Amino acid sequence: MQQQTDKSLILMDTNPESPYSEAYRKLRTNIEFSSVGKDVKVLMFTSSQKGEGKTHTAVNLAVSLAQAGKRTILVDADLRAPSVHRYFAPNNLSGLANYLAMQIPLEQIIMDTHIPGLALIPAGATPPNSAELLTMRRMDALLDILKEKYDMVIIDTPPILKVADAQIVAARADGVLLVVEYGKIKQEWAKKVKTSLAQVNANLLGIVINKANRSDFDATAYYGAAR
Ligand SMILES: Nc1ncnc2c1ncn2[C@@H]1O[C@H](COP(=O)(O)OP(=O)(O)O)[C@@H](O)[C@H]1O
Ligand SMILES: [Mg+2]
Repeated sequence: MQQQTDKSLILMDTNPESPYSEAYRKLRTNIEFSSVGKDVKVLMFTSSQKGEGKTHTAVNLAVSLAQAGKRTILVDADLRAPSVHRYFAPNNLSGLANYLAMQIPLEQIIMDTHIPGLALIPAGATPPNSAELLTMRRMDALLDILKEKYDMVIIDTPPILKVADAQIVAARADGVLLVVEYGKIKQEWAKKVKTSLAQVNANLLGIVINKANRSDFDATAYYGAAR
């Protein structure tokens, strides 16, 4: 099935002077500062629920990193509800899931995007066993290869409270960013997210407050201290 791309959602590219784009640049700077002296190359985005803006934030941050001259790759590890490809590639026929299932070699899943300096690994065919695939040694080996080839590896994942996948990736990432839809997250969920991340010794770098009203914040995305 062919899907339409929605390049217009990449605000960093279509409207770089807007306050929204400025917010992603601020997020990028904050991440750069919080990782000074540490080897933070693999950054994962998650949230407690779907629809809070993980994919939107991961995509725009990845574009912002590429625009700043970092060789960046965006990996769609939301194997259950993949959507990164909608922003770039016309289809999601093969990708991470197929690679992990040993169906195709790495060169066939890395795609160029219309953004200079930004590559993409789409999720690929939705597998019945995504948590198992992500736990495989092949996933660790893939991240090692990507760390060698790129300056930054940005990973999109499913909501952390729904399935084990995000926790599995969090254990392998250098840093985790939690996307929270402004006014939506319940305190009880926030505690559960923190516990899930702590269980795998994840490095929670910060929280992105998304979809905030401009009257409440300067812009849509805001980077706050994690602890
Ligand atoms: N900051 C934002 N500004 C405008 N639209 C947004 C923003 N964040 C998310 N959206 C929109 O909200 C919907 C859900 O976002 P998405 O990133 O797909 O959520 P998730 O990946 O967490 O399920 C999408 O249609 C997306 O385009
Ligand atoms: Mg998503």
